[in-house]
Amino acid sequence: MDTPPASLLYRLATAHYVSHALHAVAALGVAEQLTDRPRSAEELAAATGTHAPSLRRVMRLLVTEGVFVEQDDGRFSSTPLSETLAGGFADAVQVFAGSMVHRPWGDLLETIRTGDNAFERVYGQGPFEYLADRPEEGERFDRTMASFTRWIAIGVAKAYDFSELRRVIDIGGGEGAMMTGVVRAHHHLEGAVFDLPRVGAAARAHIAAAEVEARCEFVGGDFFEAVPAGYDAYLIKHVIHDWDDERATRILARIREAIGDADARLLLVEGLYPAKVDASFVAAGAARNDCNMMVVTGGRQRTEAELAALYERAGFTLSRVIPTDAGASIIEGIPVR
Ligand SMILES: C[S@@+](CC[C@H](N)C(=O)[O-])C[C@H]1O[C@@H](n2cnc3c(N)ncnc32)[C@H](O)[C@@H]1O
Repeated sequence: MDTPPASLLYRLATAHYVSHALHAVAALGVAEQLTDRPRSAEELAAATGTHAPSLRRVMRLLVTEGVFVEQDDGRFSSTPLSETLAGGFADAVQVFAGSMVHRPWGDLLETIRTGDNAFERVYGQGPFEYLADRPEEGERFDRTMASFTRWIAIGVAKAYDFSELRRVIDIGGGEGAMMTGVVRAHHHLEGAVFDLPRVGAAARAHIAAAEVEARCEFVGGDFFEAVPAGYDAYLIKHVIHDWDDERATRILARIREAIGDADARLLLVEGLYPAKVDASFVAAGAARNDCNMMVVTGGRQRTEAELAALYERAGFTLSRVIPTDAGASIIEGIPVR
């Protein structure tokens, strides 16, 4: 028999129970305890300094979602999901399911009524100021972005023809996972990472760890003020979707100014919002990300047509969309003369 619609709605309405449970086990490092062998709730509680009966109830909730398995002897064992959690995904879960994000989501109704972003209303500051004030959360956010970006950098390095380019800069490049990935794949390139000065120490350490200091540097600055001139390509990944149209246009216009009369191009790397939404995994990812941008940053995930309009306002033509095998596209722009 098909599941009744009321049961499906109940499950959707209580999805946040699962999100909170996942956040808790990620914060406690429970999945890490199961990588070598199954363990009882008592063993897990002793290892994580928690209350065994309560931990057991949360573990069983996550069993129902396929995160762990409950064995016949009552012990818990791992699954591909918990192995992924233990393998470095716990930071991302703590970012996306943590209080920084779920508190503003609790104020969604007001955002729908007013169009204002909830984060500012709840915290009295924007997300990047929030992260700057909380170094531990800021570092976790940077690590999360870097882990997704390492994967996407491989896709970008493979999908785009960098052979004619010499100097490439990544605007809002964070710790430099994209730029180091691209210069490691293309030995003729010189790279630079441009981001707020607070990111400099982590970015320099990342560049050194990637062993590309000779060909990659960090440049501190504010992309609303000015970005450095003298590069053949301006990469910008997962930055434009953080901002509303007015501020996104300002960032792109600063890049256009830096290019001036030079023969350089814009390489924006983001997921595109499909023109029509359905229940596919791709559309679900885009819609989630878009609404999260609305709530947290005041930005949006854009369709190709919406990006083309932004490009035009900033002095670029959207020339090509190049898909990668890493869930993001390269949306190339060439300067209008
Ligand atoms: C969502 S993160 C993307 C980081 C990186 N591009 C990636 O995909 O891994 C946005 C980045 O924009 C940077 N950022 C925010 N405001 C900035 C500003 N005014 N000037 C320069 N960078 C800024 C943040 O520090 C952060 O590294």
